[in-house]
Amino acid sequence: MQRRTLVTCGLPYANGPAHIGHLRTYIPADIFVRSLRKQGRNTVFVCGSDAHGTPIVINAEELEVTPSELVKKYHDHFDQTFKSLNIIFDKFGSTESETNHNRTTEIVNALIDNGYVFAKEIELAYCRTCNRFLPDRYVEGICPECGAVARGDECDQGCGKHLEPGEILEPVCKICRSKAEYRVQEHFFFRLSEFKDFLSDYLDKLEGTSNARNYARGWIDKKLNDWCITRNLEWGVRFPGHDELVVYVWVDAPIGYISFTEEWANEHGVDWKEYWMNPDGDTDIIHFIGGDIIYHHCIFWPALLKGAGYTLPKAVVASGMVKIGDKTFSKSRGYVVWVNDDYLDKGFHPDLLRYYLASYTSHTKELNFSWKIFQEKVNNELVGTLGNFIYRTLLFAHKNFGAVPDGEIDPEVTRNIDDARNAMIDYFNEYEFKQGIDSAMNLASFGNVYFQSNEPWKLIKTDISGAGTVIRNCLQIAKALAVLFEPVMPVIAHDAWNQLGMAAELANTPYDEVVTEIKVGQPLPKPAMLFTKIDDSTMMEMERILEDRVRMASKKKNISFEEFSDLDIRVGTIVLAEPIKKSKKLLRLLVDLGENRSRQIVAGIAQTHNPEDLVGRQVVVLANMLPATLFGIESRGMILAADHDGAALLVPERKIPAGTAVR
Ligand code: 2FM
Ligand code: ZN
Repeated sequence: MQRRTLVTCGLPYANGPAHIGHLRTYIPADIFVRSLRKQGRNTVFVCGSDAHGTPIVINAEELEVTPSELVKKYHDHFDQTFKSLNIIFDKFGSTESETNHNRTTEIVNALIDNGYVFAKEIELAYCRTCNRFLPDRYVEGICPECGAVARGDECDQGCGKHLEPGEILEPVCKICRSKAEYRVQEHFFFRLSEFKDFLSDYLDKLEGTSNARNYARGWIDKKLNDWCITRNLEWGVRFPGHDELVVYVWVDAPIGYISFTEEWANEHGVDWKEYWMNPDGDTDIIHFIGGDIIYHHCIFWPALLKGAGYTLPKAVVASGMVKIGDKTFSKSRGYVVWVNDDYLDKGFHPDLLRYYLASYTSHTKELNFSWKIFQEKVNNELVGTLGNFIYRTLLFAHKNFGAVPDGEIDPEVTRNIDDARNAMIDYFNEYEFKQGIDSAMNLASFGNVYFQSNEPWKLIKTDISGAGTVIRNCLQIAKALAVLFEPVMPVIAHDAWNQLGMAAELANTPYDEVVTEIKVGQPLPKPAMLFTKIDDSTMMEMERILEDRVRMASKKKNISFEEFSDLDIRVGTIVLAEPIKKSKKLLRLLVDLGENRSRQIVAGIAQTHNPEDLVGRQVVVLANMLPATLFGIESRGMILAADHDGAALLVPERKIPAGTAVR
């Protein structure tokens, strides 16, 4: 039996439209799968939408639809978008499917039976106004690790720590903004701490990209906490025997990988256990994910699988993050490029985006999306090198011969094709997509040099058969390029294939076909250019759309002089500054604001300023901020600073009596 490979992609939350950032997982994974198939490997490719979790419930509440309606809409959206980009899954399921509910229940029961789940009473944020417990993103507060404002499940603006239920400080209800209290409730925990040694060995063997292994190892070296796997929600997969609880979304989401395989297997008369309960070890499971969910895939997930007796993944391939115009990706700040609105609906060819995202930089590095670079890559590499070579070859061949002319294939040509193919396969198998694509592009450059230096346009006047030989060689290179580029640009490679008069199905054509000699006499239809240049005005229009979005997002409302006068801004002199225990970011300050007592203010400047250097310095303070308590210390005011690579304090240009108003 041939080895089986199962490739999966991280499941997009069915909670909003697809953006360019998403594609960094799916496009390379699709390229990888197509490349495996070209090597003759038995490969299945599954994904689906992630239907659960609090953000979906909150979003549905805000939009006044049911979670089920919301996830159906975005499930269909992702399914359609992936198809438009020719990212073709064998199964695109949903974690809300019956199969996934059943598989999750099975696995949770197995974990319970195997002694890996225990009940514990914990204190959880509870809102008395809304009369409910506040799971995950229903609550906001202060990160216990770094002091930044954080969501209930993650310190998303500060240190990035995953927060367990009950960990967040100063909880506030996100729905009604009232102060939440802590109440005791029984929840269920997975004994993650027992898997430390297992995970340590597992990570040593884990294949894929090194960023995944290294990041996960960093966590193993610290303490592994047991993991609360239940939530107070209606929407999700019920925790067995407890109707008021569902399992945490990060339990049933990766289980989707199994249930989608099951659904695919059932549709194809295959046994899904060959993939997920396979003691023979003849199946390779490879997860493609974004770099932000390494922890979940390299720690939680293998421990869950191990605890329940399932096959462990062989590799985790984690992509670098995507920036937009050099800025951190942010929907709320407008730094986003939507796949449909900004790209497909504007009439750009899906293959160009596939090429750009996969060939721009190494898979694990940060990718900065810029329309300018998109244009340069399309115009220089695709139009100027690849398209130019194939078109001039086909045009010359069609005009002068009408079919593939006779002539020996030059060993140098065969060698170059062979090298390009081997390099591409090796690089792709190592998840080095950029280098793999560059190898094929080098073959196109070689083709251009070959055409140019052999001057068939001169030969044709004196030596038709010599010209025919040159052109047959060029056609051989063009054929190889169509095969090699199929995983990257399936539609355009297919066009090239048709223009070469090839009959076989390109997607099923193995890599080895690149050196099979192109058939003499094969008719060549009139070619058309494969790529067209993107002009400057189109790019300027795209940049303008992005800039407008950022401007709209950052637009603050205009205020009247009266509203400005409500701000009590004063010059103050710092009389005391000291660190706050357990907080890396905050300092406690006493500031003389010209009142009879100094004000206590907590400021997030510990990483940029030494307490000793601050005493005696003048600062500008917003003095009528509502009081807030941070790390148990009441803060009554805000020190004004410009935020760029850390805080830069605003200071008066000369010494001024403390308390002087700023207007
Ligand atoms: O981070 C996310 O977008 C999650 N929806 C990914 C889930 S991947 C898997 F584990 F299911
Ligand atoms: Zn509330």
